[in-house]
Amino acid sequence: MNILILGSGGREHALAWAVKQNPKTDRLIVAPGNAGIARLADCAEIDILDGAAVVAFCVENAIDFVIIGPEAPLAAGVADATRAAGLLTFGPSAAAARLEASKAFTKDICDACAAPTAAYARFTEPGPARAYVQAQGAPIVVKADGLAAGKGVIVAMTEAEALAALDDMFSGEFGAAGAEVVIEEFMAGEEASFFILTDGVNALPIGTAQDHKRVGEGDTGPNTGGMGAYSPAPVLTPALQAQAMEQIVLPTIREMARRGTPYQGVLYAGLMIENGQCRLVEYNARFGDPETQVLMMRLGAQALDLLLACAEGRLDLNRVTWAEDHALTVVMAARGYPGAYAKGSAIRGLDALPESSSQMVFHAGTAERDGQILAAGGRVLNVTARGASLAEAQARAYAMVDAIDWPDGFCRRDIGWRAL
Ligand code: AMP
Ligand code: GLY
Repeated sequence: MNILILGSGGREHALAWAVKQNPKTDRLIVAPGNAGIARLADCAEIDILDGAAVVAFCVENAIDFVIIGPEAPLAAGVADATRAAGLLTFGPSAAAARLEASKAFTKDICDACAAPTAAYARFTEPGPARAYVQAQGAPIVVKADGLAAGKGVIVAMTEAEALAALDDMFSGEFGAAGAEVVIEEFMAGEEASFFILTDGVNALPIGTAQDHKRVGEGDTGPNTGGMGAYSPAPVLTPALQAQAMEQIVLPTIREMARRGTPYQGVLYAGLMIENGQCRLVEYNARFGDPETQVLMMRLGAQALDLLLACAEGRLDLNRVTWAEDHALTVVMAARGYPGAYAKGSAIRGLDALPESSSQMVFHAGTAERDGQILAAGGRVLNVTARGASLAEAQARAYAMVDAIDWPDGFCRRDIGWRAL
């Protein structure tokens, strides 16, 4: 079959890499893609936020299956447009993707199905929001309701910080995303990610992971999109996964269906684990980045069969075949990230690295010029390996990092520390 993947990051490189290995795949196109993706698929320049443009491209290129990577096209209704045109599509409708696009909506759903999550209140006016913060005290968490590229959440350790965050949000720093603000109880504990495919009725867990959001070693410094990840996350024991399914994920899926907006795609549940219980931090309506890189390395070619079963509504007939293995990815970023960084520096040594089912360098932000790979973003490479143990996966990933010659890049040297 002919398959179109929308997106251009390391997540989409990993999805393309897994899909490509499946014999069902004839032609694979990624839009817009990147320099790493271009080595295994055709790349196409289309406006992936424009549903009509995506549909027209699919018709012209006889696409049989569309896989949507990032949240922006989901929130923009691209899955609605492709499904309305009769195209088999992996990814939720705009109405269902509100589980990521609106934090207040997710809180409503949690209330409706009694899913454990942080206590909260919603505000559209600064006065009552400030009074609430002053009454609750710190630590406390202030969130812009809408999509804010991961920057709309302030975990305030002091009341002053929380009040400053409210001022920023109500003065329009996050645009429409900050018109409504959710203020939440601070949850202590350890965070982990749980990935579940659902066709709207059936649900199939496909793995756990933990990422490292802070830029510095020991989880210090500013937040980033993620500096590395590993799977599985040992903190999410089988008992906790069962609890999360029973109390959070399945009730959410049933509530979305009950409202006439069934959720089809991957549900990425961010969970906080404390005292042997998990609570929901947030949902994302897409695969995690860089968590997908480790999930795909562990799933391999079967990933396509699972995504197809999800899109076709027959997940009940599917199961995941797991190797008892581990995967770990190290993000190499441009010096300066997550602050200002330069683009265009040359990366050498990639061609000498063997690529296999157990080690891959996924490209996140790269471009190719005259046969040379150049940095073209903040997070640039996802150096990914698997092993019989997490320690082995980690050693292999760092051996690859050490073989990459990129003086303008950096990475954390401690990815995996929590589990090791
Ligand atoms: P979100 O975008 O909702 O995932 O929030 C980003 C990060 O902020 C999460 O991954 C957590 O590390 C942190 N966070 C969000 N909500 C809370 C909370 N209620 N308590 C503690 N940390 C939180
Ligand atoms: N790695 C965090 C995310 O994809 O949101």
